[in-house]
Amino acid sequence: MADLSTIYAGLKLKNPIIAGSSGLTGTVESIKKIAENGAGAIVLKSIFEEEITNEYEKVLESAGASYYEMEYLDYFDYKIKSDNINKYLKLITEAKAAVSIPVIASINCVSSHEWTYFAKKIEEAGADAIELNIFITASDITKTSDDIENMYFEIIDKITQKVSIPVTLKLSSHFTDLTNFIKIISETKIKGLVLFNKFFSPDIDIEKRKIVSGPVFSSPEDISKSLRWVAISSNNVSCSLAASTGIHDGEGVIKQILAGADAVQIVSTIYKNGAEIIPEMIKDLEEFMKRYNYSKISDFKGEMSNKNLKEVHLYERMQFMRYFSDKDIL
Ligand SMILES: Cc1cc2nc3c(=O)[nH]c(=O)nc-3n(C[C@H](O)[C@H](O)[C@H](O)COP(=O)(O)O)c2cc1C
Repeated sequence: MADLSTIYAGLKLKNPIIAGSSGLTGTVESIKKIAENGAGAIVLKSIFEEEITNEYEKVLESAGASYYEMEYLDYFDYKIKSDNINKYLKLITEAKAAVSIPVIASINCVSSHEWTYFAKKIEEAGADAIELNIFITASDITKTSDDIENMYFEIIDKITQKVSIPVTLKLSSHFTDLTNFIKIISETKIKGLVLFNKFFSPDIDIEKRKIVSGPVFSSPEDISKSLRWVAISSNNVSCSLAASTGIHDGEGVIKQILAGADAVQIVSTIYKNGAEIIPEMIKDLEEFMKRYNYSKISDFKGEMSNKNLKEVHLYERMQFMRYFSDKDIL
């Protein structure tokens, strides 16, 4: 039997399939179902920075303290009752009690303000790691790309000072110099990078002249962006890599490991096919490994990354070539 285990962000996973952060990992019942179907780990639904700061602000106000005295909260914890923060900490504790796979907490954040105090609470509640989902929209004309990138470093610095569990970062692909940024951010104290997040995509209903949501779920074709950057980055990074977006089946998992991923995160496929898709993915992975005599993940991890290929330029090519338009594709 092939050994499917992998190390991601210092955590030993029994297989590389992680259920990514979403509503599906927001209740203990659903988390249990995902674990029973064989996932290697789960990332909890995110708590948002605003949820944390709003509630802390309320408590601090009633205590007569200022927003900038978060450490003060140690004395006022008892005042935080059935709020979002406590609900989130309870979710961590209950999820940890319910499943034996690693449970990774998730925080959506945009600043390194005092909310970072909360990271310690997450660790104390028993989370095995923290995934930061940072996205700073480059919409402020006064901010340079350096200013924006520095905010990532500040947040990582603050959080990693506060906790000793592994901290990982889920990134978008919207950076001026993506390859270099991925490399230098992997050299910080983070232990894992997730490439990439998928965002809400606005659309317009022309009849109602209203902004509506575009497709919420990814499709298997969406795999190519993360595949490209995992392949380009996997030999340049100093931390683990998890691929995310567009991984819908066993083939997607295999492709990402060939490109150099240590693990994959899946969400849309669980929404569409149920948690029962996980054992199917595992079976496909096992059969592939058997077919090509791979006994462990590292036997083929990165085989199709930029280090090992002569056609590495194919990952770097963005424009369609005449070659393609002459053939039957277009
Ligand atoms: C309904 C839904 C809810 C999500 N909620 C979160 C969330 O709370 N935090 C987060 O970091 N990502 C969230 N995501 C993004 C997913 O974790 C994942 O990065 C994205 O869906 C791409 O993976 P996929 O192609 O497997 O769906 C959500 C995605 C979906 C579809």
